[in-house]
Amino acid sequence: VIRLTEEAHRLIRESIKAGDVVIDSTVGNGHDTRFLAELVGPQGHVYGFDIQQLALERVKNDLHELGFDHVTLIHDSHSQMKLHIPLNFCNKISAIMFNLGYLPGGNKSVITQSESTRLAVSSSIELLADGGILTIIAYRGHEGGKEEHDAIEEMLKQSLDSIISVRTIESGTSNTAPRLFVIRKRVALASETIYCEQPRSS
Ligand SMILES: C[S@@+](CC[C@H](N)C(=O)[O-])C[C@H]1O[C@@H](n2cnc3c(N)ncnc32)[C@H](O)[C@@H]1O
Repeated sequence: VIRLTEEAHRLIRESIKAGDVVIDSTVGNGHDTRFLAELVGPQGHVYGFDIQQLALERVKNDLHELGFDHVTLIHDSHSQMKLHIPLNFCNKISAIMFNLGYLPGGNKSVITQSESTRLAVSSSIELLADGGILTIIAYRGHEGGKEEHDAIEEMLKQSLDSIISVRTIESGTSNTAPRLFVIRKRVALASETIYCEQPRSS
């Protein structure tokens, strides 16, 4: 059985370097946030999102103890990420990670939802640099998980081959096994460049 979290880390490690700007869309217990912070180093920056304030507080303390001050934790849905990422980083983000579902050991009713996930994945594709990588671990076993997975699969199918490439890795053979989507942004041709536009906050 492949551990999808480790596989995602392996692929990200190969793709990013010190000084890069990256996003953890689901901070939770902060494993991916810390991993990204180590890789990009103090010259880089990590933006992390979660809707659970308590989780963010804990991770903030951990990062403080590690002396990492190149991480910005944002208490908002990842569906709003374009509101929080400085406009000059549009098309400059080299990696974005999602680990969907609920926080292990936390409140199982706070869970990622199809519609906000779809919006966040779509914003992520815009924010990614040419050649940037997006990893999404989707769980199909819990209630709503299959719908969320299918919504992602469907939107990726409808995306242009000229803009992204997509591959998937399963952690088992059952059709409820967790699945890792690995998306790479291709070098955008001038006529197909996707422009980031920060929505006005109301
Ligand atoms: C599987 S956990 C993430 C685990 C995390 N990567 C780690 O290393 O511990 C999923 C997280 O997504 C968060 N979440 C749920 N809906 C969200 C949303 N709309 N925006 C951002 N985070 C969300 C949950 O609060 C939970 O902490």
